[in-house]
Amino acid sequence: MPDTLTTADVVQATRQYNYGTWRFQKNWTPLQIVDAEGCYIIDAAGKRYLDFSAQLMCVNLGHKNKAVIAAIAEQAQTLAYIMPGYATSARAELSTALTEVLPQGLTKFFFTTSGTEANEAAFKIARMYTGKSKIISRYRSYHGSTAGSIAATGDPRRWAIEPSSKGRDFLFAPEVNCYDCPIKHTYPQCGIACVDYLEHMIENEQNVAAVIVEPIVGTNGVLVPPPEYMPRLRAICDRHNVLLIADEVMTGWGRTGKWFAMDHWGVKPDMLTTAKGITSAYVPLGLCATTEKIAAYFDDHYFAHGHTYEAHPLTLKPAVATIAEMKRLDLVNRAAELEPYMRTKLEALKEKHPSIGDVRGMGLFWAVELVKNRITKQPFNTMRDKVEGKSLVVDQIAAHMMKNGVTQQAWVSHFVIAPPLIVTKEEIDIGIAAMDQALAIADALVES
Ligand SMILES: Cc1ncc(COP(=O)(O)O)c(C=O)c1O
Repeated sequence: MPDTLTTADVVQATRQYNYGTWRFQKNWTPLQIVDAEGCYIIDAAGKRYLDFSAQLMCVNLGHKNKAVIAAIAEQAQTLAYIMPGYATSARAELSTALTEVLPQGLTKFFFTTSGTEANEAAFKIARMYTGKSKIISRYRSYHGSTAGSIAATGDPRRWAIEPSSKGRDFLFAPEVNCYDCPIKHTYPQCGIACVDYLEHMIENEQNVAAVIVEPIVGTNGVLVPPPEYMPRLRAICDRHNVLLIADEVMTGWGRTGKWFAMDHWGVKPDMLTTAKGITSAYVPLGLCATTEKIAAYFDDHYFAHGHTYEAHPLTLKPAVATIAEMKRLDLVNRAAELEPYMRTKLEALKEKHPSIGDVRGMGLFWAVELVKNRITKQPFNTMRDKVEGKSLVVDQIAAHMMKNGVTQQAWVSHFVIAPPLIVTKEEIDIGIAAMDQALAIADALVES
């Protein structure tokens, strides 16, 4: 390798020595990114791209927040690492700050370095605490990539390890999807039968330790449940002595216009898992928060879980700064205040483009779902197309947007719009305009 790497060198070495995640490797040509600031990322040629999904729905503060960067530097100079058995001021400061922003009652914390590991911790804790083994999740879900969390994942990222390597005792309930209900019900006449069916499952399965839900399903379509859903799920779990785990890896940290999505319904989970926005993704940190009641069990029982990097000081201090910055910039309220603006813009886009079947979301967390046919709601592509590496219509549209300076996350047949919470109305307009232009690709494929 030469001393100074050209862009071609960087891309070639990345391709040659690394795996591209969740994809066929053959045509992977990653773009070299050299800088990022505010709501923009910048490539090696100096081209700027509006980050309309905050990378993986995680850079909530925007790029290059000075206070978070300073916290990383300060902690690196003070105490870069110490094993989890010790107390540190970063740990104490973050734990105290968490009790102020998490849903009430979640007061005991296990730190991880990803959302995946946070869910793995939640499953182990639930199984140890209840002495039961089964975990119920839903088909339209993503809970992580390792053994337990991929087994709990409903979406097709699970398929590759089935059947022989799938973790045991994970079951799927129907998702709440009021736009395209898998059992063809219509809200409100349905009386939210999907959640009642979950109770039917618990009664018939026995041995259920926990139910895990993304309060608003993320990657799989920003599916917002009706207001009665979560309170009813809480009551079902209570009736059957089953723990409720809220996976707020994506929905936490102001994304939906509250600190956590469960706050919209005043529902208190027994465990809450999160990651991503906890440090605005500047350093890898995840969290599994539990109630005092669960915590008390382990006073006299062996807590059989841990990691070398649990409560890593370098990950905790930036989280303290992230929470302080979110409060200083009032970003939770900002996400709520920008919701009507985003809604109006997206509804206008739907009016104009026959390929849009639905737009939905909360705060600064939105999906634009594409269909071939608004009446049948048939998508352009299926989950199977995705795992077979076919060229997807949404990916063609995202590539067109990229050419026009906007990065946009796409999944199967929808887009997830989730800009940094510091986004301005002008920047929202830029993102929507790029999508507006690119949607001609899908409009041309609509069944007449
Ligand atoms: C809801 C949800 N849970 C868990 C995860 C896994 O988190 P990580 O990628 O940090 O392991 C994700 C990642 O996107 C997610 O969206």
